[in-house]
Amino acid sequence: MASPVRILGVAGSLRHASYNRAALRAAGTLLPADTTLDVFELDGLPGFNEDEEKNPPPRAVELKLRLRAADAVLIATPEYNYSVPGVLKNAIDWASRPYGDSAWSGKPAAIFGASPGALGTARAQYHLRQMMVFLDMHPLNRPEVMIGHAATKFDKDGHLTDEETRKRLGQLLEALASWTRKLRGS
Ligand code: FNR
Repeated sequence: MASPVRILGVAGSLRHASYNRAALRAAGTLLPADTTLDVFELDGLPGFNEDEEKNPPPRAVELKLRLRAADAVLIATPEYNYSVPGVLKNAIDWASRPYGDSAWSGKPAAIFGASPGALGTARAQYHLRQMMVFLDMHPLNRPEVMIGHAATKFDKDGHLTDEETRKRLGQLLEALASWTRKLRGS
């Protein structure tokens, strides 16, 4: 038996019928052995205020606790105006503060995203990778999973039906579990 890997998943959308939240749910059904996925929903997280960073709101405290309990992070990002949505950036900011007490630091991470457009969040994903430099995270390089033309890949109930996308998402999870064990030294 391989050592267990606990992944915390975050989707950068509050939308009920979000493709990214749906893709994260699909990821939960495609996990490799000895791996679990816990999802943190971003609703209820107030806008970041540096005046409150030493006494953060309960949802921000919970996010940091759940990140610290996880071995790895899986982020499904939409693309808004060629970057990550504000709600995702806001969550990143809360959990990165106060300075010196970031819950992201040292975490292995995998990134993917879904968009109705052709590029499948490629631009947002590269902005997220840039943030991970400052956050001192360890993002997986490959496979890159950019789910373009999302409307054709999910059914009306939000199930990921596209077989090729399911396969790539499964490969991403497999690679994240291996990467996490490699960094852990097991
Ligand atoms: C978008 N959308 C979008 N899509 C894209 O491929 N590139 C982009 O830059 C943008 N910009 C953008 C800005 C704003 C403010 C909105 C509301 C939308 C479309 C976006 O990909 C689409 O709404 C997705 O469905 C959002 O992801 P979820 O909510 O389905 O996960």
